[in-house]
Amino acid sequence: MNKAIENTLIISSNETKHVADIETELGQLPPVMCHGGELNQVILNIIVNAAHAIRDVVNDIGARGVIRIKTWADHGWVRIAISDTGTGIPAEILDKIFEPFFTTKPVGMGTGKAWRSARSAVVDKHGGTLDVTSQVGVGTTFTISLPGQLARASASIALASRSPDTAHRTGMRHDRSTIKAVR
Ligand SMILES: Nc1ncnc2c1ncn2[C@@H]1O[C@H](COP(=O)(O)OP(=O)(O)OP(=O)(O)O)[C@@H](O)[C@H]1O
Ligand SMILES: [Mg+2]
Repeated sequence: MNKAIENTLIISSNETKHVADIETELGQLPPVMCHGGELNQVILNIIVNAAHAIRDVVNDIGARGVIRIKTWADHGWVRIAISDTGTGIPAEILDKIFEPFFTTKPVGMGTGKAWRSARSAVVDKHGGTLDVTSQVGVGTTFTISLPGQLARASASIALASRSPDTAHRTGMRHDRSTIKAVR
């Protein structure tokens, strides 16, 4: 996962280098069984969103923002937090960002697909969770949690026993019962 993040940072450097400094704190992680390409795309989309949110803040004032990426292992889960010092997301928009085609960009500029597909890849395909916290004027933190190999087996059993709708909803939060099952 850390290697994938480092590669994604190189790919996204054209978007980030003019507006933000990148800080990484990559911890030691257990292996994660994953569709690498899809998760790379998710991380890339989040970093590009972060760069755009920072650009909206620093554009006129010639300052730079920070994108901070932290990974750590947590009871068999892999957590990836991506924070930015961008505009932040107002509460009424935060509720909508996972809706398909939601975008605050001008017509023709944004597709609004990135967050929706992040949820599909992380929650539906990997049995993980997504969290977003944001404060207007301060920034946004987006956290991806993925079951490591050990946690994965019980996570898929837990997901398989839920209806797709329930899996969608419960996937938004850390599922403590699943984590406990693998300890
Ligand atoms: N890090 C962020 N900070 C502030 N707002 C964000 C951030 N990430 C996403 N958003 C908001 O969520 C909306 C949806 O994001 P999403 O990536 O799905 O689409 P988009 O960025 O508008 O379009 P595209 O990704 O196709 O260029 C954005 O228009 C923006 O308003
Ligand atoms: Mg985007």
